[in-house]
Amino acid sequence: MVGVFPTVVVLVVAEKRAAAVDSESARSHREIETVAEKRERWPSRLAFIMAAVGSAVGLGNVWRFPYVAYSNGGGAFLIPYFVALITAGIPLMILEYALGQRFQAGAPEALAKICKGFRWLGWFALFVGLSISFYYVAVMAYAWRYTVASPTLEWTKSVDETKYVVVKTEDEKEQRLAEENAKPEKERREALTEDENAGVFFAEKALGGFRPGEWAKPGNTAKHREMFMPVPHLVLFSFLTWLLIFLAIYKGPESVGKVVMWTVPAPIILLGILIIHGLFLKGAGQGLAFFLNPNWALLRDVNVWLRAYGQIFFSLSLGFGILIAYASYQPKESDISNNAFITSFANCATSFYASFAVFSVVGYLATAMNTGVGDVIKAGPGLVFVTYPIALAKMGNVGRVIGVLFFLSLLTLGIDSAFSIVEAVVVGIKDRFPKIDRRRISAVICAGGFIFGLIYCTRSGLMWLDIVDNWMTNYGLALVGLLECIAVAYFFNIGKLREFVNERSEIKLGYWWDAFVKFVTPAVLIFLLAVQFSKDLTTTYEGYDQILKYSVTIMGWGYLALLLVLSFAVGKNWTLFIWSGVLAGMTIILRLCGTPFPVAGMGALGFVLLFGGLCICVLKAMKSRGVEAPTDEEGEAEQSRSAAEDKSE
Ligand code: PHE
Repeated sequence: MVGVFPTVVVLVVAEKRAAAVDSESARSHREIETVAEKRERWPSRLAFIMAAVGSAVGLGNVWRFPYVAYSNGGGAFLIPYFVALITAGIPLMILEYALGQRFQAGAPEALAKICKGFRWLGWFALFVGLSISFYYVAVMAYAWRYTVASPTLEWTKSVDETKYVVVKTEDEKEQRLAEENAKPEKERREALTEDENAGVFFAEKALGGFRPGEWAKPGNTAKHREMFMPVPHLVLFSFLTWLLIFLAIYKGPESVGKVVMWTVPAPIILLGILIIHGLFLKGAGQGLAFFLNPNWALLRDVNVWLRAYGQIFFSLSLGFGILIAYASYQPKESDISNNAFITSFANCATSFYASFAVFSVVGYLATAMNTGVGDVIKAGPGLVFVTYPIALAKMGNVGRVIGVLFFLSLLTLGIDSAFSIVEAVVVGIKDRFPKIDRRRISAVICAGGFIFGLIYCTRSGLMWLDIVDNWMTNYGLALVGLLECIAVAYFFNIGKLREFVNERSEIKLGYWWDAFVKFVTPAVLIFLLAVQFSKDLTTTYEGYDQILKYSVTIMGWGYLALLLVLSFAVGKNWTLFIWSGVLAGMTIILRLCGTPFPVAGMGALGFVLLFGGLCICVLKAMKSRGVEAPTDEEGEAEQSRSAAEDKSE
């Protein structure tokens, strides 16, 4: 939650410097203009497309997409996914590219040029993105751990010889169990098959001891100490990742342009090798059939649609402010819409392509275990960090090599997404304070990211990751997307922006684009936000509050609220800042009076909306009293003036 503070510190320091600059306004204006003229540029169109594809194609394509697709209708999921791509993904990507390129600025300044009151929205997008990158780096740290574990297939070995004994088959397990039961209780060990051990390895070794079941037991006094204990290898690997991020971006688009020429093709080639290998495995067809077999009935479930939009937003890097920043390095005359189509299709095709690598192996595993594919597949991170390793263990020595390639592909996929958000924040700060050295900004953000991301490197890290991920992706990104549409459609001339795009683009946009940005995308997003909101208000997310009281309230709602308030402050929208303060205060007061959290929140919201609206209108009326109601004398003078004008005509 506190992860955005380093940025705020940079901003406060920078604000002081900027005040000095502002006072010499005329001269500094000229200076800022020359800086803008000298804006850094991508070395080529290809570099821009590669960087945008690199940001979009990430862990989400391998980790999220296959699982989301299969659990939400398999082949039938491709329909909501494609609808989401056309109705929200592509129109918004064009919008973000157009904003960055037209205004030659990152998210906060580009949105401020539409309407000053929207500057905060740019900061909010960056804060949401930054928050996502903090846990994203933790997932990359898991991938590092598995890259190291792959050559020895470490997940097939006991994590603690004194506690567990690992055997190959169920029969052996039975036999071992009997032997162990014959021993005195103190010496008894738990017998696990290799497959079961992969899950234990993930929780105990990779996550350093993730034991939500134990922590949830009432009266467990040691849980706090245990939950917040840092896991050394996760700390080390996340440090390494932040260092790599810094090295990739400290020189700006010039270095990013070079790095993405490696980090984008590398995972695609690696995945290609994995697919070819996967397709020849016994049972691969069964896995693919399971993935692609359409379950049409699920299309009637609104949650499936919700997941499709969520996946599109996360996967295309929409609502992070990244694409605005990247497009701002494009010369004003560059293509926009075709670049957006290329990026979107390249990303979605990679998701589809990566699913083949994952599902062929899952099919192989099911065949080897003689069960159904549905029985071996696991949710979320379990798919890549448990199911996939189990399959690797069954491939013998080839599994060791394939394992290294697979986890390396995850790392190369993740790194360019992770540095894209840091770059977006750098652009945001640099636009506002052009004199600060970009290297210094990058270093502060990376160091801050490492420090504040440490919460995800503790034993309970996966739990925090899960909560924050739900709130950031379902609310944060969707909210940014919605407000971006509203800003452009209702506070700017969207027809003009379309013309700007069409004048320089290979694919011409019709009125359909206006219709999507004005009505369709906002309507869909409002609906999705409302459904999600009512769901999260009525249930505690994943029951985490049983493990640690208020964990969801604080890390979900509280975190989101904090980011909003911070962006109001940094974006200098004091009206929203004050009203959100009143909202928070009212919620706390009502909560202290004993009302449950959702009731307190809704009560406070009702108060703020109704009384706030009334206050604003009354204040407006008071301000304009003198202007609107002319005195009698003024009224007469006005009448005689217009009468004179009539005569002269
Ligand atoms: N598009 C990325 C993915 O699919 C998501 C992401 C972008 C995460 C930027 C962090 C920063 O994985």
